[in-house]
Amino acid sequence: MKIAVPVEVRPGENRVALDPESCRKLVQAGAEVVVEPGAGARAFFPDEAYRQAGAALGEPWDADLVLKVNGPRERPGGAHEADLLKPGAILLASLFPTRDPAAMERLAARGVTAFSTDCIPRTTRAQAMDTLSSQANITGYKGVLLGAAEFPGYFPLFMTAAGTTPQAKVFVIGAGVAGLQAIATARRLGASVSATDVRPEVREQIESVGGKYVGIDVKAQAGGGYAAELSAEDKALQASMLAAHCAGMDVVVTTALIGGVFAPRLLDEAIVATMRPGSVIVDLGADGGGNCTLSRPGETVTAHGVRILAPLNLPATLPRAASTLFARNLLNFVLAFWDKEARRLRLDPEDDIQQGCAITRDGGIVHGPTLKALERSRP
Ligand code: NAI
Repeated sequence: MKIAVPVEVRPGENRVALDPESCRKLVQAGAEVVVEPGAGARAFFPDEAYRQAGAALGEPWDADLVLKVNGPRERPGGAHEADLLKPGAILLASLFPTRDPAAMERLAARGVTAFSTDCIPRTTRAQAMDTLSSQANITGYKGVLLGAAEFPGYFPLFMTAAGTTPQAKVFVIGAGVAGLQAIATARRLGASVSATDVRPEVREQIESVGGKYVGIDVKAQAGGGYAAELSAEDKALQASMLAAHCAGMDVVVTTALIGGVFAPRLLDEAIVATMRPGSVIVDLGADGGGNCTLSRPGETVTAHGVRILAPLNLPATLPRAASTLFARNLLNFVLAFWDKEARRLRLDPEDDIQQGCAITRDGGIVHGPTLKALERSRP
């Protein structure tokens, strides 16, 4: 089986789907690996490292299995990646299919079998293949570092000869993978940290990483660790809690997502106005549209003296670590279904992991949420 790794063309993307270490393991399993020249450069993996790992450097689009970070898009020069793939090829990538259902339709029309690693079921067996988790961890970590750099004070309490500076108060909204890492990182930097979520079972997890739980009496579990959208009544309850709590905070980090994809609007202008000038909001829901109504995804704005950061694609800002973890997720997927005799990935529509993350197969879209998103996107 020929497995190939193209250069990523999403603006601002620095990651690559395969690092040399995971490349070596695919070669050892008997795969023929082809890496497009320069694919790893922005993650600091030179072409030579892939060559030493047993890969060839060359044209990636005629491969049987293509490994990518992002979903298909137009490349410089005008060709669309979905149309470059070989009919019948397998694409393994983090497609976020509900954010771009039209591209999924294009993959289906091309006869590509596409698996999206952000739709992998949340089971113990699948955990090592879940790019949503490995990349969200980075988002939580880097988001807090950005907030600390923007904040006009120290995070820790400092006693110096010139007097004492107070400990910063950090509030994390949404305590999933990114949120728990944000709490842990802010604690390591010496801040006092509180956090909230709409799934009450995360209380213990918040406390285990050193955060103080701020709860409201709602239950919004949608299964599999995902949250459902709150009812209008619960939204109002949460908004009054957020208004009261944010007022005393120095840095608010928001990480709330519905179904791992779309960001509920939680902080409106009235809540921002309660915060002290010099406070900072880091909206890590920006990739999903933003948790703050004043956020401009990809930009930093100031409102009522509060700096509102809405960084996009933070994993791309730690490209070496992010690519290594991403590559291990893909490697674990490939090896889980690897036919050692035939030396190829075995398609198994009955397998729960393949079933959960298959987006296109046999010329059609087979992923329920993507079909719904496609319907919604049509006029
Ligand atoms: P996510 O990215 O979908 O959401 C982030 C967080 O926002 C979640 O904790 C969610 O409850 C919270 N949230 C949603 N709406 C909110 C609102 N209105 N206000 C406050 N918070 C809100 O979720 P993520 O981070 O991908 O995972 C959540 C959980 O799933 C993890 O804590 C973990 O327990 C579980 N998980 C299990 C995996 C496995 O077993 N393979 C893999 C990944 C996660």
